[in-house]
Amino acid sequence: MSIEQLAETARAMVAPGKGIIAIDESSGTCAKRFAGVGIENIEENRRAYRELLLTTPKANEYLSGAILFDETIRQKTKGGVPFAKFMADNGMIPGIKVDKGTHPLAGFPGELITEGLDGLRERLAEYYKLGARFAKWRAVITIGEDTPSGTCIDSNAHALARYAALCQEQGLVPMVEPEVLMDGDHDIETCYEVTEVTLRSLFDALYQHNVMLEGTILKASMVVPGKDCPEQASVEEVAEATLMCLKSTVPAILPGIVFLSGGQSDEAATAHLDAMNRMGPNPWPLSFSYGRAMQQAALKLWAQDMTGNWDKAQATVYDRAKANGLAALGKWEG
Ligand code: 13P
Repeated sequence: MSIEQLAETARAMVAPGKGIIAIDESSGTCAKRFAGVGIENIEENRRAYRELLLTTPKANEYLSGAILFDETIRQKTKGGVPFAKFMADNGMIPGIKVDKGTHPLAGFPGELITEGLDGLRERLAEYYKLGARFAKWRAVITIGEDTPSGTCIDSNAHALARYAALCQEQGLVPMVEPEVLMDGDHDIETCYEVTEVTLRSLFDALYQHNVMLEGTILKASMVVPGKDCPEQASVEEVAEATLMCLKSTVPAILPGIVFLSGGQSDEAATAHLDAMNRMGPNPWPLSFSYGRAMQQAALKLWAQDMTGNWDKAQATVYDRAKANGLAALGKWEG
């Protein structure tokens, strides 16, 4: 796979006014989300729900792609079309989550390391055959009294770099995701410092592993105060802090940055993205790769009446895609 092809895919992922819907929840996370609205966590429900999201009429006006889970990329629409083919036929790029989740980092209580490197080359080759053109790996950095440690940050950066190099070898664009969690009562300055150190470590590791940044997308968390911090920040403060942190750590050659929503409300996730784009021009396109902030309204509606509310639920997916697509241009009207 040439770097030109990877770069072309990466650019298409962050095409002007378009972003990505993350629907790559593992069956365990899906169980949690379904339990929250009283849906039984069985395969057919997971399939039907993903079909609802992926087949939203005209969502491709604002969505360049979607991140699928291993089970999802093997599933089909009710009409028998594999989801990845349905997406490609509708101008959306199929992506796949390839990490195997977080585990306690031995020797560092309260900290997590993402696993999944063993056998990854073969899994990536299979996902490519199934139609995936980009792959996501999420590392988690937890802010606490004595965390994160340098060891946790560097170990996760090293794993991200090894996965990213393998992705490019197999023809997939790596979407590298070092998520600094919003959990806790830390202030926005602490989040800034931790995000800065995390991104420096990540780009150093990517460089050490010969990862071609032209064919890489960063999935970043925004610089925000912890959920339980008494002093919350304004939209402008979050946008300014996030931009400053990214500009001082992320090389300009990267084709784009997308954000996770991380537990922000739908409105806040959109407002922050919009504000950052209004503050531009920025070195890279800034767009979205939201999971919860794209889905939660639709999931609630679908849970109330799975067949009766199908169209209504899809309409909210379209609305969320449109709002975030406009925010990716700095043109959201609130
Ligand atoms: P949220 O937007 O719900 O944080 O999910 C995005 C994602 O893919 C996390 O890995």
